[in-house]
Amino acid sequence: MTQQVLFVCLGNICRSPTAHGVFAQVVSDAGLQSQVLVDSAGTGAWHIGEAPDGRATQAARERGYDLSPLRARQVAIADFERFDYILAMDRTNLMHLEALAPEDYSGHLSLFLDFHPNSSEREVPDPYYGGDDGFNRVLDLVEAASRGLLQSLRAD
Ligand code: 4NP
Repeated sequence: MTQQVLFVCLGNICRSPTAHGVFAQVVSDAGLQSQVLVDSAGTGAWHIGEAPDGRATQAARERGYDLSPLRARQVAIADFERFDYILAMDRTNLMHLEALAPEDYSGHLSLFLDFHPNSSEREVPDPYYGGDDGFNRVLDLVEAASRGLLQSLRAD
């Protein structure tokens, strides 16, 4: 059965494209690319159509992930019809998604880091206004949570 996963942050140029690129790679490494479809979107509209932030692309490239084909888009109501998992990077993103979600949404809407093996990690910090360290921190969190998410999908 095909499962569809959507990662959501604010701008869809830093955190969620990183999650998109990393998780797509993890899925592909597991040979599951035809069974698990991955996408990302932002709650905000400022960066629609833009490529990921150059710092995110560079940090990801250094770990072997290619974010360059991705383009930002905004979350739409139709996403709740399509996606089985909608995973927010922080609590503000989650609050916006909960406000947007149809009452009868039957998929899984939560924080992405619910799948991180260390339960003290809850939110992926927004790296946009910080230095390059922030982007590596995002990658550390996203890589760990991606492995947890794959295990969970396999158990579904
Ligand atoms: P993201 O980071 O939500 O991880 O893509 C941000 C990108 C842009 C802005 C804020 C956060 N912004 O204010 O434009």
